[in-house]
Amino acid sequence: MRSIKNETNLNQKKVLLRLDLNVPLDNGKIADATRIDKILPTIKFLLKREAKIIILSHVGRPKGKVVNELSLKPICEDLKNKINENIRLVSRNIKELKSTDLFNEQDEKIVILENIRFYEEEEKNDNGFAKHLASLADIYVNDAFSCSHRAHASIFEITKFIPSYAGLQLNLEIDALTKITSEIKRPITCIIGGSKISSKINIIKNLITKFNNIIIVGGMANNILKYKKHEIGKSIQESNCNQIIEEIFSLSKKENCKIIYPEDVTVGKSLDGPAEIKELNNISKDELILDIGPKTIKAINLLIEESSTILWNGPAGYFENPNFAKGSIEITKKIIEKNKNNTIYSVAGGGDTVSLLNNIGATKNFNFVSTAGGAFLEFLEGKELPGIKALN
Ligand code: 3PG
Ligand code: MG
Repeated sequence: MRSIKNETNLNQKKVLLRLDLNVPLDNGKIADATRIDKILPTIKFLLKREAKIIILSHVGRPKGKVVNELSLKPICEDLKNKINENIRLVSRNIKELKSTDLFNEQDEKIVILENIRFYEEEEKNDNGFAKHLASLADIYVNDAFSCSHRAHASIFEITKFIPSYAGLQLNLEIDALTKITSEIKRPITCIIGGSKISSKINIIKNLITKFNNIIIVGGMANNILKYKKHEIGKSIQESNCNQIIEEIFSLSKKENCKIIYPEDVTVGKSLDGPAEIKELNNISKDELILDIGPKTIKAINLLIEESSTILWNGPAGYFENPNFAKGSIEITKKIIEKNKNNTIYSVAGGGDTVSLLNNIGATKNFNFVSTAGGAFLEFLEGKELPGIKALN
């Protein structure tokens, strides 16, 4: 993989820098800036070598439409303050933009193009769109490890048209995760939560053969409870998952991998309301499952106690409302306790998981924290991620 850190001649070169600035937003405010902070060294590196930087990123899932709430504006402001340079947010239609439209002001060094997922061509990995993006710059840098599992135009297809390099943070994360997975100690427990059910449910099958225990919490657990014929009310769920769940359970038996899912839950009538603990046979049609219950916390903590390695992506509940943060907090506390007496190696990853750990000041008690969630899980699967493959 060609890395930008070895390039000395970047003077006045236009660098198209793909970042993952997909930070958690709460009413337009950045709830956690980790993904921004982690790429600051790359921007400083490029500025020092006097490159001209064109930043590309997505935030959220606008699905090919302009969604004002998913503008990169607050992210641009945060970045500006942190690097103490002016950054122009270019909101013009990217498809009409020409290379000569950028950097006309004499001392303009950085521009940021508006959310790349406002264009449906991005997720379609559109060849013409990728070619056009490439035409804006001299070289391309992928410093977005956390979305390198997506074969999208600005991550994959673009590398066919322009000299392409890995960024500093991408190199750092791959090196760290490669080392961690090659030295991993058993028993290994993987906790998978969060709300992106469709992205993660298919990954589990491939993780069964690698780990001793898989703990399923968050949105995906709702699908399992439904499969087990429990009422899940208005909880988030994905359709057509029964086949894959069946395969997960049968493979886990064969491979002797323990699958843990909620024994009890915490529900609410709305996301911002109060919480109530419920047995699985007692959930009503108008309720949402928003966290695990106390029996489940106890079972998970017993398993963590027996583990030598813990890999965690995705919160156990809707922690943004403190009433539903208990599951995630208790899991974190148990990992910290084991970390302090050096009886566990702990790795956590993903935008929301990292936000949760930062909120409760727990990040320093983990051995490694990755910016990546879905990409982290696919890396653990042993897959070569499309965005990385494209750089090789
Ligand atoms: C993430 O948050 O994991 C990345 O930004 C990728 O987002 P996606 O799951 O919407 O592709
Ligand atoms: Mg995310």
